[in-house]
Amino acid sequence: MFRNQSYRKNRYLRRFNKLNTKTIAGEKTYEVTSPGQIFLFGEHAVVYGEPALAAAINIRTKARSEANENKRFRVFSERIGRLEGKVKKENGTWKIIDREGDLEELNFVTKAAEITLNYVKKGEGIDLEIESKLPSGSGLGSSSAVTTATIASVSLALEERLNRKEISQLAFDTEVAIQGAASKTGVNVASYGGFLKIERNEMERLRTAPELKIVIGYTGKYGNTGELVRKVKKLKESRPKIIEPIIETIGKCTESGINSLRKSDLQKVGALMNANQNLLEGLQVSSPELRKLIKSARASGALGAKLTGSGGGGCMIALGSGKINKISKAIKDAGGHPIETKIGVEGLRY
Ligand code: MEV
Repeated sequence: MFRNQSYRKNRYLRRFNKLNTKTIAGEKTYEVTSPGQIFLFGEHAVVYGEPALAAAINIRTKARSEANENKRFRVFSERIGRLEGKVKKENGTWKIIDREGDLEELNFVTKAAEITLNYVKKGEGIDLEIESKLPSGSGLGSSSAVTTATIASVSLALEERLNRKEISQLAFDTEVAIQGAASKTGVNVASYGGFLKIERNEMERLRTAPELKIVIGYTGKYGNTGELVRKVKKLKESRPKIIEPIIETIGKCTESGINSLRKSDLQKVGALMNANQNLLEGLQVSSPELRKLIKSARASGALGAKLTGSGGGGCMIALGSGKINKISKAIKDAGGHPIETKIGVEGLRY
């Protein structure tokens, strides 16, 4: 572990605060931001080739990188933790070795940096600062946002400007390496933003969707995406006749939801969100905390409410018509943390 953590933390903070000014004595620092995401429809079913509709939210993760000459890889994040290691070539591949610090918490960041070093074929040291307002395991795409922001800022620090397609592919490779099965939804939203329909890992941008305001209700509980995806897989294998039609029907909800959104028929979008939630209950990925927040949002006038992301805790979303502060209050009174946010916002800013 670090010998003198508080000294180091202060030194890092001083250093990164200084770096905030962008260019110091010829040194270059690169700051990028990437949005979190919600699923309006189709989580879990998307893993089996059904369509899903995801949207970028106005809660962003920031990454700031600078190359260093001493082959050190250093990450500091007030919220996630810190890590230090050495960049070294082993068997023709750049690796971050001798890691110390918050290895588990920063595994997406470290893997993303390693993948980037190898993609651009430059084994430089990197100082990286992450600012994330998305709690991990909240179902708001925190790992996709942090992975995408890391890849974009590390590659810029290595003087390579990758395009969005390259960044989202590298982010996907990182997610697969860390968590196994994943759809491309999270990484595509983190790169491209807006509203994205995802089907069989192909994406389509919805250009006619209205900009919406929703309320997110955070249960404060961690939901493990990998575990929940495995749980649905097992359920599907053990009871295919029941589970497969549920998955297909979720796909139909997504298709109808997209049509209703295009027509700005929010009553129908809300009703379909409620139907999607019932189907997710059938996949056993909801939780008592989510049910409580969903029930209170509906009782306070939400047009629709459902969990978002992998479930098992994490967040729910509620769609309102007009003023949504009544829904926020109801979510708070039910023990959740409400966040009002715009959806369909800009993707990776770099
Ligand atoms: C997790 O945010 C959403 C899931 O559909 C998994 C995925 O799409 O990778 C459960």
